[in-house]
Amino acid sequence: MVLTRMRDLFAVLTPADEEWELALTIDPARLPAHIAIIMDGNGRWARMRSLPRVAGHKAGIEPVRAVVETCARMGLGYLTLYAFSVENWKRPRTEVETLWRLLRYYLKIELPRLLRNNIRLNVIGRIEALPASAQDDLEQAIQATSHNSGLQVNLAINYGGRAELVDAVNRLIDKARLEGTTEDLRLDEEMLASQLYTAGQPDPDLLIRTSGEMRISNFLLWQIAYAELYVTETFWPDFKRIDLLRAVAEYQKRDRRFGGLTPAASTNSEELVAEVLGVPAP
Ligand code: FPP
Repeated sequence: MVLTRMRDLFAVLTPADEEWELALTIDPARLPAHIAIIMDGNGRWARMRSLPRVAGHKAGIEPVRAVVETCARMGLGYLTLYAFSVENWKRPRTEVETLWRLLRYYLKIELPRLLRNNIRLNVIGRIEALPASAQDDLEQAIQATSHNSGLQVNLAINYGGRAELVDAVNRLIDKARLEGTTEDLRLDEEMLASQLYTAGQPDPDLLIRTSGEMRISNFLLWQIAYAELYVTETFWPDFKRIDLLRAVAEYQKRDRRFGGLTPAASTNSEELVAEVLGVPAP
């Protein structure tokens, strides 16, 4: 499996150019299992060009396509894209409606490519609040790709990290009521994780945010507990394959300790500890 990873990527790169050299620095055995992306900066990208904000969203489709394709070619397991938050309803109605139109356009154009490339589509969020037409198209695309076994793409739509946690707890309460075990109900991490929209998926190892904002914006609050954060100044419509490779290369340089220590840092002998503390060695 590891050997075949990245092979499909090199097939579309140009030997010896910058992307190729960067891809060569990436260790296929240590790829993130799951990448999550906060796609930000569409509006500012448009404003810089004196265009309406929706032009930025339209231009944001190409990087979605490029990132999905690159993750699939790298042999990654999961990609989660933050397309619409529960807070985004506060935007002007025309902008929100345009986002649904773009989503439907994306699904129509991309479905054949998703099928060809063995990509499975999934949605996380409260999609029951979406216009019926967008819900239908999403359900159809999810169904059509449900037997694919390659990259899984989670589109986070009408998604909120707090809403997800509330939904998970309510599901556990409902389950306990059905089973008549409400009195003894106690939660643990495993129970809660089992009711998240992403249940069964590995947590993201790498969270990318475009446009330079240093915020989490209510995204995957539970799942990103130990994710490595990578923020780029690039606006989402300008995000290219090379930017994703840069993020993965940077991720592989990080020293991930999950609250523990690297082996080199944990070799303090009991004698040394005793000396530092000024107490006799045990
Ligand atoms: C954030 O930029 C972007 C969004 C809220 C929408 C993301 C949508 C797309 C990339 C379009 C297509 C996506 C799919 C999945 C079909 P912003 O508007 O907050 O930018 P700003 O911070 O510069 O105003």
